[in-house]
Amino acid sequence: MDLKQIFDNNQDWVKQKLDVDANYFENLSKGQSPDILYIGCADSRVTAEELMGVSPGEAFVHRNIANMVPNTDLSSMSVIEYAVGHLKVNHVVVCGHYYCGGVKAAMEPADLGILNPWLRNIRDVYRTHKEELNGIADEEAKYKRLVELNVVEQCKNVIKTAVFQKAALDREIHVHGWVFDIKTGKLIDLEIHDNDILKEVMEIYRLS
Ligand code: CO
Repeated sequence: MDLKQIFDNNQDWVKQKLDVDANYFENLSKGQSPDILYIGCADSRVTAEELMGVSPGEAFVHRNIANMVPNTDLSSMSVIEYAVGHLKVNHVVVCGHYYCGGVKAAMEPADLGILNPWLRNIRDVYRTHKEELNGIADEEAKYKRLVELNVVEQCKNVIKTAVFQKAALDREIHVHGWVFDIKTGKLIDLEIHDNDILKEVMEIYRLS
């Protein structure tokens, strides 16, 4: 890839924006008040803003391998704290994707060094749903189902945070589990029942 091309692209983009609105960047510099926190995979094919059709300023974005929300991960926890507690987003989205390399790696026996503890979180999702997953004979179907179950478990991890539980007490805030299907380009809403999950989570994880 020619990196000079990137700077040329950037110049074209700046010009395009300024042609429509001469104050575009001046206004962007004043601050942000996004309504959505999007937590997705770092996969190069799953471009958060482009697949959602949102503009700069509309979505606070966090991406890591396999769209994880481990409770000991300072990075994702800080993002949730800031977006929910300070930016006061009304929607938190965890978006997984079919054919996720991170999920695939967690299904196979391999020592991947520093990735082991990260992917261990996905193996834990597998263990939690072992009966259902082992009941799926087709490997691709099983792989896709683990992607979905991982999204649901990461939604639960968002709900387990103190900042989310506090926010849910005093405003309308929802967690959504989505999957992006790379094969069709379509975004699928898993339609999780976040209110029921919140009740279930709070039985054990109540922090406020
Ligand atoms: Co992925």
